[in-house]
Amino acid sequence: MTDPIVITVATNKGGAGKTTTAVHVAAGLARAGRRVLLVDLDKQGHCATFLGRDPAPRLYDLLVRERDLADLIAEARPHLHLLASNSETLLAQDFARLRNAQADLLEHALVRKAVGYDYLVFDTPPQGLLQECALYSTDRLVIPVPVDYPGMDGAAQFVQVVQSIQVREHLPPPVRWFVPMFVDLRTSESKYNLRLLQERFGDQVSTPIPVRTRMREAIAEGKTIFEYAPGEDIAALYAALCTLLEAAHG
Ligand SMILES: Nc1ncnc2c1ncn2[C@@H]1O[C@H](COP(=O)(O)OP(=O)(O)O)[C@@H](O)[C@H]1O
Ligand SMILES: [Mg+2]
Repeated sequence: MTDPIVITVATNKGGAGKTTTAVHVAAGLARAGRRVLLVDLDKQGHCATFLGRDPAPRLYDLLVRERDLADLIAEARPHLHLLASNSETLLAQDFARLRNAQADLLEHALVRKAVGYDYLVFDTPPQGLLQECALYSTDRLVIPVPVDYPGMDGAAQFVQVVQSIQVREHLPPPVRWFVPMFVDLRTSESKYNLRLLQERFGDQVSTPIPVRTRMREAIAEGKTIFEYAPGEDIAALYAALCTLLEAAHG
């Protein structure tokens, strides 16, 4: 059996669309028939709520209580399994730091144990040890970039973080995509920042994800956009992002 491909969704900013993108990438791949494990590394526990489930201390159970991964996973949708998180994830992070855990923490505790999956998708907090550990283990990196000043700045900072980990840990550069988020081409701010992003990162910039009320509604109902409004353009755009990620080499 081949190792799962690890996809990490990350950037150095809250509210950037990380969880929305992680959940929709995971759900989109699962709908295409892939076996997917979505891992929530953020204390907010939103991967669970976005999928209509309750947050739970499963990451804590794995890292601190050293329980078996198979016992901690819940099936959220067909082919889509979830390792949920909640506020105890903060304790897990402190515990890992006290034990002087290295950047390969998740590699040992999780990635190597996740047999039988085609993809592992990490949703991450905007900074800290668990973000670093995800970057250490990842094959592919998805960076949501809100096309406004804070979003662009968060992405620029994050590119530096990735580079410093890469150098320190002697890692090859991950295959990466920048996903423009909350795009509204009627505004000059969106147009300007989208152009900047494309000039800087060229074909590493994916098709933009537009701002859509239906997406907020779907999340509030604990449904994916594929379930809530399958005819919306944003559902097709997230499905296309999954196709792009599947086609990647590296
Ligand atoms: N395409 C979109 N259009 C409008 N609102 C969105 C869209 N995608 C996500 N949101 C909203 O943006 C907010 C932040 O998204 P979230 O994925 O939680 O960001 P992060 O995980 O980076 O903190 C959420 O409240 C969500 O409902
Ligand atoms: Mg989040």
